[in-house]
Amino acid sequence: MPSSKVEDAWATLDAIARRPGAGSIRPHFAADPHRAARMTHRAGDILLDLSRTAIGPDALPALFALARATDVEGFRDAMAGGAAVNVTEGRAAQHMTLRMPSDATDAATARDLPAQTLARMRSFTDAVHDGTIRGATGERFTDVVNIGIGGSDLGPCMVARALWTPGCPMRAHYLANVDAHAWDALRHGLDPTRTLVLVASKTFTTQETMTNAALVRGWLAEALGEAGAATHLVALSTNLEGAAAFGIPPERVFGFSDTVGGRFSVWSAIGLSLALALGWPAFERFLAGGHAMDEHFLGAALEDNLPVLLALAEIWHVNGLGYPARAVLPYDERLSRFPAHLQQLEMESLGKAVHVDGSRVSRRTGPVVFGEPGTNAQHSFMQLIHQSPVPVPVDFILVANPDHAHPDSHRKLLANGLAQAEALLAGRSEQAVRAEMAAAGAARIAEVAPHRVFSGDRPSTVILLPRLDAFILGQLVALYEHKVACLGALWGINPFDQWGVELGKQLAAHILPALEGRSAAPDPTTAPLIAEIRRLQGLG
Ligand code: F6P
Repeated sequence: MPSSKVEDAWATLDAIARRPGAGSIRPHFAADPHRAARMTHRAGDILLDLSRTAIGPDALPALFALARATDVEGFRDAMAGGAAVNVTEGRAAQHMTLRMPSDATDAATARDLPAQTLARMRSFTDAVHDGTIRGATGERFTDVVNIGIGGSDLGPCMVARALWTPGCPMRAHYLANVDAHAWDALRHGLDPTRTLVLVASKTFTTQETMTNAALVRGWLAEALGEAGAATHLVALSTNLEGAAAFGIPPERVFGFSDTVGGRFSVWSAIGLSLALALGWPAFERFLAGGHAMDEHFLGAALEDNLPVLLALAEIWHVNGLGYPARAVLPYDERLSRFPAHLQQLEMESLGKAVHVDGSRVSRRTGPVVFGEPGTNAQHSFMQLIHQSPVPVPVDFILVANPDHAHPDSHRKLLANGLAQAEALLAGRSEQAVRAEMAAAGAARIAEVAPHRVFSGDRPSTVILLPRLDAFILGQLVALYEHKVACLGALWGINPFDQWGVELGKQLAAHILPALEGRSAAPDPTTAPLIAEIRRLQGLG
């Protein structure tokens, strides 16, 4: 239950948000010629431009007051200090310890396992790359398949897609869905004699991952025999016994602590596919980038703190202005899986209905997050973002310098990203539309003009990166992780558990025997569909 101090801070913010025109952005630019500079913040390699939001001179102090009332800094420091901030599971949230430099002296105990594991990951990676570790037939490993789902897939898959180039040491593939079409599509490009398989599961019980692991082990065994297959398997897990039961010996298990949540685990052993595919130096730079953002988050004042600022912009949009969704548009094809990573990071963390003490929330919590790379998004859902009645704030992620030699393409990409942000803000009035149509000699101006109006005054934030490399990507990923932690504190919810995924898992376990015809359908609402599926399968 929020304290009266917190409720007062919310009441102040609510009152500002209810004022007429509170959602307008353009008047802020008119009133303050220095707004763009004033609302632009930097940390490390990241520039964050919040000027195209409706956060004005009244809302901004009210947002910081809310951050102070909800003790965002206290929550941050408790998390960094190893307190059990994940209250429902009685666990700390120690993903930051995974990216501490090896000479760090603080939090030595927390770093113990990560440091040892990191050393083992490094020697394993080196041995695979130099051919000391080879496949059962003596071939060098050229491909790594990471079998995992959720946080055991999305983070590593996103980073591999962002950073892999043809000169990298190995190819990485990601198998997540229990739908075997995914495996069928993947396996045709793979040679079992050269394929290393990582079974990535924090719990080592996840149905999808264990089912796929059994399929892939069978594929290896067909080519290499059972003993040969075993030499191609590695486990990334906190569950050593589970890995052993699957036939993976302890020396092939890379562990991490259960204080690292799945969606925060790309920095842990779950990142082994990245070390193998991208090379150890790149993985190390990625960790260093995450750590650089940690230092900023832990040290910067609230007013300059990028994760805090991003979180407060979300509060303003979700709670102040009532916008229920946010789009993430990286204008970089290499970040094509970044929105998918954020979908889990943000929605699994913040889609909560109760406070940490179990009392029901009275305000909206995490918004729907979705996205696609620009410019593809422009030819897909941007119509709605420009013209639907409810604004959808956008995070534009722009990268100044590409790693290709086609500057013309890159300029067009950037021009489109900037144009979208400008169009959302500036809009186009009916008067302007009519004038434009008249100048073009268009017919049916009165009828068509209303359809071509853009209200404008729609919010977006711009994150600008100088280029995309491992160090900068590490900063970006950690920025959003810390934003999520701040929102947990601001909303008074636990951002580190995910009970909402459990019910479906339990029900699937009851439905499976009914689909197999071994039991009656457990629920009358599902029974007719099960019967129809079995009939279509020729079983009913
Ligand atoms: O979807 C629920 C979830 O528990 C996620 O939080 C997690 O990232 C994913 O499943 C995979 O879990 P595991 O790594 O234990 O297989």
